[in-house]
Amino acid sequence: MGTFTFDGQSVHYLDEGVGDQAVLFVHGFPFKASMWEPQFPVAVESGRRVVAPDLPGFGRSAVPADRSAYSIDGYADLVAALVGDLGLGRVVLVGLSMGGYIALAVARRHSDVLAGLVLADTRADPDSPEVRRARSDQQALVEERGHVTPLVDGLLARILADTGPRHAEVGATLGDMMRSTAPAGWIGALEAMKQRRDQTDLLPTIDVPTLVVVGEGDALAPVDVAEAMAKGIPGARLEIVPGAGHVANLENPEVFNRAFSEFLSTLPTGS
Ligand code: MLT
Repeated sequence: MGTFTFDGQSVHYLDEGVGDQAVLFVHGFPFKASMWEPQFPVAVESGRRVVAPDLPGFGRSAVPADRSAYSIDGYADLVAALVGDLGLGRVVLVGLSMGGYIALAVARRHSDVLAGLVLADTRADPDSPEVRRARSDQQALVEERGHVTPLVDGLLARILADTGPRHAEVGATLGDMMRSTAPAGWIGALEAMKQRRDQTDLLPTIDVPTLVVVGEGDALAPVDVAEAMAKGIPGARLEIVPGAGHVANLENPEVFNRAFSEFLSTLPTGS
């Protein structure tokens, strides 16, 4: 565990294992670093260090009050700054959903920190006008009520596959993370996602080994989106995870971890 300061804000991160290379995990919305805990042993057993920040607005990190302080590019700059601060060199960057938007922004803005990419349950294209409107409605609701509770059950129902073997357990874990998210963090991250740029033009330029993973029942970033993204990235592999929706690493960690472990075994471990 550690903290570092970015843009005057305190950022908390989990830090485990040792190795010449690190795997840096970026969480999705509205979660925190610990959503990646089932993957930490895979990275540690591969001889790598694990680093996973709570993004500003989430977990134990500072929560900027103003939504204009949040952006996907800003989160990407934070990831690169953390890599520099810890002297990690080039990392294997793993991002789920919003974490994937951030990983793609790192690939565009800071490709010199990358040794490999894992893009899970995510997409390169920006929000449609309908999705943007829905996010604005959510922001208004959280602002009006002063807490996030009214959104939790609906979001859980959209993201988890009904057929997932761990449906109840994962729902409880993610529900707790969601309910503990500060309203300003929730609103800010929605703003960041609403304003994010289209990254599809970046895909053919990605020149590090890449694994794309998607839950077979992901309703937010479905299989066809993942297939197109994997096709767009030179040499990328695609893993479709059965019994999983939008949070494949938690809904079916066995399959996710097998693909992740195989991917890591193909990469040199130096930074
Ligand atoms: C996430 O899991 O990070 C979010 O579902 C992403 C999004 O809402 O676009």
